[in-house]
Amino acid sequence: MTGCGVVKMKGEVGKIFGETSSFEFEFVVFNPRDVKRGDYVKVWNDVEGWIVAYVTDVKAKSDFSSEDVIKGRNVESEIYVAKASVIGKRENGYLRAPRTPFVPGEKIFLAEEDLVADVLGMSQEGAYIGLLGDTSVRVRLDINSLVQKHVCILAKTGSGKSYTAGVIIEELIEKGVPLLIIDPHGEYSSLRYRNDVSEETERMGEFGIKPRGYDSIRVYVPPGSPFADRADGVIHLDGRNLDAEEIIELGNITSSSAQALLYQVLKDMHDYTIDDILSRVEGEKHSSKAVILGALTKIQKSGLFSENPTPLEILLQKGRAVILDLRGLDPVYQDLIVARVCDRLFDMRKREEIPPGMIVIEEAHNFIPERGFGKAVSTQILRTIASEGRKFGLGLMVISQRPARVDKNVISQCNTQIILRLTNPNDINAVRKGVEGLTAEMVEEVKRLPPGNAVVVSPELERPVIVRVRVRKSRHGHAVEIFGGRKSGKTKRKEVKSESRNQSQSGLFKRIFGG
Ligand SMILES: Nc1ncnc2c1ncn2[C@@H]1O[C@H](COP(=O)(O)OP(=O)(O)O)[C@@H](O)[C@H]1O
Ligand SMILES: [Mg+2]
Repeated sequence: MTGCGVVKMKGEVGKIFGETSSFEFEFVVFNPRDVKRGDYVKVWNDVEGWIVAYVTDVKAKSDFSSEDVIKGRNVESEIYVAKASVIGKRENGYLRAPRTPFVPGEKIFLAEEDLVADVLGMSQEGAYIGLLGDTSVRVRLDINSLVQKHVCILAKTGSGKSYTAGVIIEELIEKGVPLLIIDPHGEYSSLRYRNDVSEETERMGEFGIKPRGYDSIRVYVPPGSPFADRADGVIHLDGRNLDAEEIIELGNITSSSAQALLYQVLKDMHDYTIDDILSRVEGEKHSSKAVILGALTKIQKSGLFSENPTPLEILLQKGRAVILDLRGLDPVYQDLIVARVCDRLFDMRKREEIPPGMIVIEEAHNFIPERGFGKAVSTQILRTIASEGRKFGLGLMVISQRPARVDKNVISQCNTQIILRLTNPNDINAVRKGVEGLTAEMVEEVKRLPPGNAVVVSPELERPVIVRVRVRKSRHGHAVEIFGGRKSGKTKRKEVKSESRNQSQSGLFKRIFGG
């Protein structure tokens, strides 16, 4: 038995020993059941009063040797030693770290939840995303900071990115923040329905929430979408002034002489429609003319562009969360829609024609790829929103399973960073570099986080914390991977399958099921 003979005060769980500093110390744990990695403890400092520290590790030590093993002896006693990293104390609203080292022999107590919440700077208001570590302290993120200073959610597939995004979206909807959700997998329209998964509803008491659905959801789809019958509307874009790059991408023009011709034709055209380009190209005497005409005709046939485009202000409206369900759409068209929509919204926001709000980008590596990991026409505007959006009240929620492949600048513009489990070394490296204030210990934690647990870094929190993300109030829709044939997540709901009967024959949509 450890701790025998030690004089203990009531509630005392350990005592400091060995070398200490004002940043970290080690303490002997009297009973290993009382102190675990991730716990918050407090220690009395004669000069400073109560100081809070975070347990980064607990080790068992004994003098049991190889010789003991050979001689068949048993372990007689082991001691448990915890390592703690000092957080500090709150004084006049500010966190202060002690300036004097802790004295060996000082007593360690478990810190009360109120004290921990106060020291870490937990707010009583804001978006409630879950509970701190093993405690019942609610972690709330400031709404203005979330919306204006951007948030990223990074984690490997299946560790809870979209689920966590859903939790934040629920909170933002309840606070009335206008949202546009770019939804390549059609996962978010289930926000309409209350969560009825029993394993999750059973845990609602623990988090102090109740199931509910949101009727402020509106779903829009592109023309030809097989999911149009469930949508609130179809969006058409203004096809004016498509640039050469966009036409090359949409029309899949690979011939360099055709590309050259297109650049040449567009060089002196201003404010034009697709028809205008068609008639100009028709007048050319060039061997590649047919390629361009074919590409333009295909773009027109997509039906995406119209003389009567959808007024895009409907995508960001007071009291609404609008979902742009791009499921099944050719990725090139997804990219173009995101580019054009975001460009227009940013413009309207600058002129205050739409309210402040947030754009949620799932699969962000496809829209804002890091250099060397592909090209996307939406990159430029998303970079601009990341760097200038806060001035105009337009925020981004960037979600990706490949942090290493998302534009580094955009990630580092995100003030709130939510990281769930990651295992790929390149992705871990990207997070280590891109997330300010992430300690080496937290990086280690990231590799081991159980599903639904996140490391959260936020400007309001004094240090990164581990959060048990709360269960969803509304139903979580499961992602269906359409391109590349890989399925991510579980496709529990049978209704998903029946949607295939509405298969569109439009060339923009790939066969989704049973292809
Ligand atoms: N906070 C959570 N509470 C309960 N279950 C969760 C939580 N986060 C994730 N899950 C479970 O993990 C699964 C995968 O999460 P999901 O968000 O779809 O992963 P991805 O990271 O691929 O987007 C979900 O279907 C859900 O069952
Ligand atoms: Mg997902």
